[in-house]
Amino acid sequence: MDHFSLIGGQLHAEQVPLARIADEVGSPVYVYSRATLERHADVFREGLAGVPRKHLAFAVKSNPNLAVLKVLAKRGYGADVVSGGELDRALAAGMAPADIVFSGVGKTADEIRHALATGIGQFNIESEEEGEMLAAIADSMGLTAAAVLRINPDVDAGTHAKISTGKADNKFGVGLHVGPGIYGRLSQLPGIGLRGVAVHIGSQLLSLDPLEAAFGKIGQLVADLRGSGHIITHVDLGGGLGVPYQADSNPPSPAEYGALVARVTRDWDATIQFEPGRVIAGNAGVLLTRVIRVKPGIKHPFVVVDAAMNDLARPALYDAWHDFEAVVPDGTRMTANIVGPVCESGDTFAMNRDIDTVAAGDLAVFRTAGAYGATMASSYNSRGIVAEVLVDGDRFAVVANRITPAEIMAAEQVPDWL
Ligand code: LLP
Repeated sequence: MDHFSLIGGQLHAEQVPLARIADEVGSPVYVYSRATLERHADVFREGLAGVPRKHLAFAVKSNPNLAVLKVLAKRGYGADVVSGGELDRALAAGMAPADIVFSGVGKTADEIRHALATGIGQFNIESEEEGEMLAAIADSMGLTAAAVLRINPDVDAGTHAKISTGKADNKFGVGLHVGPGIYGRLSQLPGIGLRGVAVHIGSQLLSLDPLEAAFGKIGQLVADLRGSGHIITHVDLGGGLGVPYQADSNPPSPAEYGALVARVTRDWDATIQFEPGRVIAGNAGVLLTRVIRVKPGIKHPFVVVDAAMNDLARPALYDAWHDFEAVVPDGTRMTANIVGPVCESGDTFAMNRDIDTVAAGDLAVFRTAGAYGATMASSYNSRGIVAEVLVDGDRFAVVANRITPAEIMAAEQVPDWL
């Protein structure tokens, strides 16, 4: 459920008409609903009621906006970060260092040093080499880094290939067959306090079966590691729960996911950690855009909007579907191709789509754009970086200024020898 709905025939975010935001901030602009973020945060937590010891870390990569992070921090969420930049954002938003976990295959020595200095709660180690580096740096700083080892369980998540992470040939984690050996060696090193394992098999999962398969393997590994004398107190189950991009898609609910986790982890006797991203932020945001013009096509017209693949990359990257709705629908429908102004054919949001009838100058939204939307924006075609707004009841605030093409150009220099 979200808080974007028609009131008096006009699409609103909570109580704010989207047209008012477009008038005051311009378009394209991402609009987030605080009430929706909070609801999703609460529903996810409630779904896990059957898991006695748990830790919730919002996947910052899905929406790193400071105001969004602050909303979630106030809801008791920590952060899953994958770079020094994300770590600094989580801290700036008020997340406690102890509630931050650091994932990612390419942590640099500088990032590790910085994360140790800020006192983060846990490193999710992705390779033996990284574990050795972490141990050496922590030891040189007189610290012991709390860490878990990320396991690649070789499970097909059944999602888009570019967002699958748990197959043996993906770059993430260490294989199950080598995991115990690596765990044993890393646990001998000073500077590192290994306390468990992590797994994350992919994103936008629409079935619980691959998760159950992966968690089963992890449960067996935890038992094996304990059998070898290791003390396992933490298991990080990652994120990945899918969201309904289309009205008729039916991903598992947080309650169903929570019931599965409660069942498979019942005897684990560990703190279970979660890294949800999309399920919290996805439906809490829309991308508000204005139709520039409607141009005839061979079969169907092209609706050219002022948002493009540089603002919302998901359709171009993953053939992703985002519902498109007029802000003031007149009740009629048209079949159209929805495209942005960028000069490549990949800048296509939808082909042959049945949509609300729109005309030049009309406002519309792409739905379910709160996760992996603004954060993946670029300035391709020398367009600006899209602005972001947070709505709270009947008020709203710009939470990320639009970065204009002129500001981007101002960061460049032409050397005087040219
Ligand atoms: N934890 C780890 C280690 C991850 O790699 C990810 C996502 C998450 C948690 C959060 O997953 P979520 O709950 O959001 O599914 N740009 C792509 C998604 C990439 C996801 C990368 N990792 C997209 O737009 O679909």
